[in-house]
Amino acid sequence: MRTTVGIIGAGPAGLLLARLLQGAGIDSVVLESRDRAYVEHRQRAGILEQGTVDVLRAAGAGERMDREGLPHDGIELRYDRKRHRVDFPALTGGRSVMVYAQTEVCKDLIALQLKEGGPLLFEAEALAVEGADTAAPRVRFRRDGVEDVLECDYVVGCDGFWGVARRAIPEELVRVFERTYPFGWLGILADVAPSHDELVYARHDRGFALLSMRSPSVSRLYLQVPEGTEADAWGDDEIWAELERRFETADDWSLERGPITQKSVTPMRSYVHEPMRHGRLFLAGDAAHIVPPTGAKGLNLAIGDVVTFARALTHERRTGSAELLDAYSETCLRRVWQAERFSYDMTTLLHRAPGATPFEDRLQLARLERIAASRAAETDLAEAYTGFPFG
Ligand code: FAD
Ligand code: DHB
Repeated sequence: MRTTVGIIGAGPAGLLLARLLQGAGIDSVVLESRDRAYVEHRQRAGILEQGTVDVLRAAGAGERMDREGLPHDGIELRYDRKRHRVDFPALTGGRSVMVYAQTEVCKDLIALQLKEGGPLLFEAEALAVEGADTAAPRVRFRRDGVEDVLECDYVVGCDGFWGVARRAIPEELVRVFERTYPFGWLGILADVAPSHDELVYARHDRGFALLSMRSPSVSRLYLQVPEGTEADAWGDDEIWAELERRFETADDWSLERGPITQKSVTPMRSYVHEPMRHGRLFLAGDAAHIVPPTGAKGLNLAIGDVVTFARALTHERRTGSAELLDAYSETCLRRVWQAERFSYDMTTLLHRAPGATPFEDRLQLARLERIAASRAAETDLAEAYTGFPFG
């Protein structure tokens, strides 16, 4: 099999890239190791930055998002039983975010690709990228138990944190920057209307909690739990009781309970792989970087990377100049590190590390009070949350 761009992985990055390339008249083949149902139902991100929303619309993938997504103009910070709302449009010159789940973004992009796009092969597992630094890179893959080769002009590894693409970059050229956190998130989906119309990020002495949503009738909630916690270790009533404690306010706000339909635990990690390109192999999304989820940057970063790649390759096709392709890694990493910084700041602002000292507790509260009191501090948060411009 032969194509111009071999794309490994049909998460949001790989799927949107195939769509963007098709719009530019460049053919591609997407290889995805899992089946369609798995990709469409893997419960993950929920918040789309303004720039992501704009890109999905421009790619013709915004119709259902605009019908069913929930535009949000702010978030609430909760600490010390107090509530502080951050008003995004007022602080950023009109920017906001959209609550529209990653599962739905993937469903929309898969439907478009199968109807109008190039080959999207499910249950096709990439085994290795070969010849990354030659003019004819290849992806070795296995489908239906049979090994095959995809011959390409370019390969883009959109295969997530556990993928194979980045292994094709020689170790001596790579620098990895990493940090793990001694806690994770226990996430639940519940069939109950969200108890607040915007997201609530809560800092509490017992740990962080987040109230989010998937629709007007489905809540998505998260609790900070110790590293290594099993989701089943928490009973449903226990989860609701803990959420109630951490969201408690001095006023009469209350948390509505409902049947929990799904539970899972996510570990937290910061990770950056430099460079994001080697020869004709490009890494995009979680294949190159991970942020802790506080602040909702992961999916949006993945979208930014593939927009940058599609622009760079289109530029090369139009002008014959590889300057944007050559600058790919540097361009993406500038935005990646801003998101790493923001996600780290949000995580350390809101989570309680095991063994945190009373001094550190007070500092967290002082940082939150500063955001509530200073338009400059609040603007910094609002700009980062609604998203940095794509490179
Ligand atoms: P992935 O979605 O991981 O897709 C990679 C794909 O490659 C997968 O489908 C995988 O099956 C496939 N693959 C892997 N190996 C191979 C192989 N060898 N051959 C072929 N295919 C392969 N981000 C946000 O922006 N906002 C949020 O609100 C948010 N919340 C989150 C909440 C949770 C609980 C979690 C876990 C993550 C959250 N994130 C959030 C992060 C976000 O989900 C990821 O950053 C995003 O999925 C990255 O997309 P991707 O396409 O790069 O990778
Ligand atoms: C969601 C996840 C996040 O990491 C976040 O900061 C906000 C919302 C969510 O899954 O809804």
